[in-house]
Amino acid sequence: MKNTVRFVLDGKIREVDFSKYHELKPTTTVLNYLRSFPEHKGVKEGCAEGDCGACTIVIAEIGENERLVYKTLDSCLVFLPMIHGKQLITVENIAVIENNEKSLHAVQQLMVETNGSQCGYCTPGIVMSLFGIYKNHQNPTREVIEDALTGNLCRCTGYKPIIEAAQKACVTNGDDHFSKNEIEVIDLLKKINSNTDTLILKNKLQQYFKPFTLSEALRLRKENPNAIIINGSTDIALRQTKKNELFTEILDLSSVPELKCIKEENNNIVFGAGITIEQVRNYSIEKFPALNKILNVFGSLQIRNVATIGGNVGSASPIGDTLPVLFAHCAKIKLQSENSERIVEIEDFIKGYRQTDLINDELITEVIIPKSEKTYLVNSYKISKRKDMDISTVSGAFKLKLNGENVDEIILAFGGMAAVTKRAKETEKLLTGKKWNRENVETAMKTLEKEFTPLSDARSEAEFRSTAAKNLLLKFYLETKQN
Ligand SMILES: Cc1cc2nc3c(=O)[nH]c(=O)nc-3n(C[C@H](O)[C@H](O)[C@H](O)COP(=O)(O)OP(=O)(O)OC[C@H]3O[C@@H](n4cnc5c(N)ncnc54)[C@H](O)[C@@H]3O)c2cc1C
Ligand code: FES
Ligand code: FES
Repeated sequence: MKNTVRFVLDGKIREVDFSKYHELKPTTTVLNYLRSFPEHKGVKEGCAEGDCGACTIVIAEIGENERLVYKTLDSCLVFLPMIHGKQLITVENIAVIENNEKSLHAVQQLMVETNGSQCGYCTPGIVMSLFGIYKNHQNPTREVIEDALTGNLCRCTGYKPIIEAAQKACVTNGDDHFSKNEIEVIDLLKKINSNTDTLILKNKLQQYFKPFTLSEALRLRKENPNAIIINGSTDIALRQTKKNELFTEILDLSSVPELKCIKEENNNIVFGAGITIEQVRNYSIEKFPALNKILNVFGSLQIRNVATIGGNVGSASPIGDTLPVLFAHCAKIKLQSENSERIVEIEDFIKGYRQTDLINDELITEVIIPKSEKTYLVNSYKISKRKDMDISTVSGAFKLKLNGENVDEIILAFGGMAAVTKRAKETEKLLTGKKWNRENVETAMKTLEKEFTPLSDARSEAEFRSTAAKNLLLKFYLETKQN
């Protein structure tokens, strides 16, 4: 059983034993697995990089209160072992079959009635996103619907009828044949999940480790220091789907429960490294509004449902969207190995372009953010070519504490302005102790310009980046000026 991935599909437990299925490898994506069956070809490959949503599926797993939680995700970026112990739902599963008669699910029926579909390429993915809304929302707002459809591209029909389909279909609190069968599915999932032995999935070319406890994860990390660590795999999977890289050793942390906690501790909010970006987004609405704001324009729901905060920090991308906000909040990263643990400032953790302070036997286990005092003014900004589904050209997160009219403390952190997320320390120094007024901010903008030498690339010219960064500071001033 150690070499076997098990999940529920079509109402039954499916087993994939990689020593027997030679056409599959441990890092076969769920998309490619499904497309190997004639009865599951509804799912499509459009881009293989998480942009188009043609491959959208829904995964159900046991959540709090023993209820199933339904999430949309892009199957092109998810490796088969990542759905172990979960229910895989495809577009072929959602119609109702009763007495050998098939009738459309409410979301499918409404897509027909509103003329929401033209082609078979985007429609299955769109239907799955509508199904995701259906299972999670009663009378969703237009904002919720648009957000859930951000990751589904259609170049022809236009979104109006699709949004109308969602508004008309999602009125029954998610009630459907999945609700009726929930207890049976939960029983099947419990059967799979009762075995928590680490999965060691092997074929001739790959070794894939999937632990179910942190201690196992740390042991495997020590024993296999060269294994590629994945959490949501939204960064890593692209190396396979776009660059054809073969991963010989993988350590998959997506089922380690200790990495999936959010707790309040010693005046800090502690996010386990495996907490998804969507969970962080929802949790931070009131606690860290600047973090919430930037996560509202992070990828699509399909990406946010799997991408993790640990993965965003671990990728150390100069345009990683959580990083400037984590800098502004003076976050810390907890690193654990089998025998030790240490906590490092986020600024010290990011060492260079996609380089971190992580050493061979360590894992990122927590992202610790001090609770924000009310006296601090914090805001974040993302500049990208499109509002939705785009990576940052420039981003900024700023924190300010005033003492009367004067700047008592200021942090100005930028993404996209250097090879790493970087603070404008000279500009911060210049402003500290000075009056928070336009004249001083305009002087500071000149220092800011000298502090960075941004690159020109496909996304923008260096001059644009420089001007944008200065104007973000001005915007922050205008939003926080006292009179
Ligand atoms: C379509 C699309 C849109 C995107 N949009 C955005 C966006 O708007 N903003 C943005 O910032 N990013 C975006 N990304 C990038 C990506 O989704 C994020 O960086 C995400 O947070 C990565 O998390 P993950 O769990 O998927 O990471 P993974 O791919 O699993 O891992 C990323 C890196 O972190 C390391 N790592 C992960 N977990 C650990 C751990 N516990 N300990 C040590 N190392 C670890 C991995 O080894 C790897 O180097 C997008 C990606 C795609 C495909
Ligand atoms: S194929 Fe385009 S998002 Fe997966
Ligand atoms: S109807 Fe499929 S791309 Fe527009």
